[in-house]
Amino acid sequence: MPTFRSAGSPPSTADDAAESLVGTRYEVEVGPVAHGGHCVARHEGRVLFVRHGLPGERVVVEVTEGAETSRFLRTDVVEVLTPSPDRVQPPCPYAGPGRCGGCDWQHATPAAQRALKAAVVAEQLRRLAGLDLDVQVEAVDGPPGLPEGLGWRTRVQFAVDPDSGAVGLRKHRSHDVQPIDACAIAAPGVEELGIERRDWRGVASIEAVAASGSLDRAVVVTPAEHEGRMPIVELDRPVAVFRGDERGRAKRVHGRAGVREVAAGRTWRVSGAGFWQVHPAAADTLVAAVLDGLEPRPGDVALDLYCGVGLFAGAIADRLADSDTVIGVESSRDAVEDARHNLRAVPGARFEAGRVERVLTRPGFLRRADIVVLDPPRAGAGKTVVERIARLTPRRIVYVACDPAALARDVGYFAQRGYRLRALRAFDLFPQTHHVECIAVLEPAPKAPKQR
Ligand SMILES: C[S@@+](CC[C@H](N)C(=O)[O-])C[C@H]1O[C@@H](n2cnc3c(N)ncnc32)[C@H](O)[C@@H]1O
Repeated sequence: MPTFRSAGSPPSTADDAAESLVGTRYEVEVGPVAHGGHCVARHEGRVLFVRHGLPGERVVVEVTEGAETSRFLRTDVVEVLTPSPDRVQPPCPYAGPGRCGGCDWQHATPAAQRALKAAVVAEQLRRLAGLDLDVQVEAVDGPPGLPEGLGWRTRVQFAVDPDSGAVGLRKHRSHDVQPIDACAIAAPGVEELGIERRDWRGVASIEAVAASGSLDRAVVVTPAEHEGRMPIVELDRPVAVFRGDERGRAKRVHGRAGVREVAAGRTWRVSGAGFWQVHPAAADTLVAAVLDGLEPRPGDVALDLYCGVGLFAGAIADRLADSDTVIGVESSRDAVEDARHNLRAVPGARFEAGRVERVLTRPGFLRRADIVVLDPPRAGAGKTVVERIARLTPRRIVYVACDPAALARDVGYFAQRGYRLRALRAFDLFPQTHHVECIAVLEPAPKAPKQR
């Protein structure tokens, strides 16, 4: 197999004092997909993570990170010698080697992207939870009239090039900004603001929010550290403006306190930088799957952990009697205020502000719950939270997960506490990227019969 080395480049990472291989090219056959938006290949026994390739392709890759002593090298495809039948021309000019890091799979058909994500979810469950499952990733309808997989992202975090003031998106594993004049996966409501046509010198980042189901628009503008001054924000559409800070908080400058989202039969207030699902169909899709998994019954005591502005708590409450208890737990005080406002007409709903791991052991907090939904951030719930949920002896648990590795690890912890996986669904709520949303339904495992 021919290998060709280009002239040496300086070491790319701090740990690589050894000779850097950045810029070196190898010809390889691309192997299976791995978690994180790349495939695996081997060269002379060494593992290469390959971006922008597809399984089965013969390609030339260039090393982007790694040195002689590295266990594995990160690489990007610079030439496709034998393309996969799943390969397509990326719809966005900024997708591809060395460019925007936001999308990982624009070079694959939407169906192939789902197959790749399904393989990743199945592999994580096999490796971390010891489960052998045939996983399907379900397609989710995007905005009508747009090509599949485009125009869905209702929240976009733009970075700013400090020298030119141009906005863009970060390159893969880099602080460098790829300037863009449009983002192909951003919702039309984001693109209409004209953020890409302004000069943002003095600003570190801009988050744009285009609500689904209402015309509300908001931007969270975080001034650069040295700046301190909030710029005057003039965009092509009326927007609420927030000043962000490096800790992810947002303070209103002018306009509404947040945006109104419409989903699951309600209008939801989501303040400032508060969490809301990014795909316009996500809230309804997930609510339906969560209710299917939980099968709430009147009289149930229900828990919505990591509840945001109360989406699942509201949907569960609609299935219970008015006086039944639904408790949401959430660490963001703004989100808790929104949840209390959103479900103010539901007598049995209450919300606790605090970290789930702490609230579950607060004196006087629940000793028992019948059904529990949890939707933690990417890091997952972890062993302590899993143990505390299991102690409540729920009849059903639904785990909503945006990282299949954290989910698989936690499913393993649940198994140690006597809960088995009853069903798993996965949804393509982040087309073109490697992200995938999973819903795992857990129930108490039958007790093994006593040995005589
Ligand atoms: C993935 S979002 C889910 C929100 C909600 N279920 C929804 O679909 O709109 C995770 C939420 O957990 C909150 N959060 C993060 N860490 C937490 C913790 N340790 N305890 C409680 N809430 C936490 C975040 O503020 C965020 O609102």
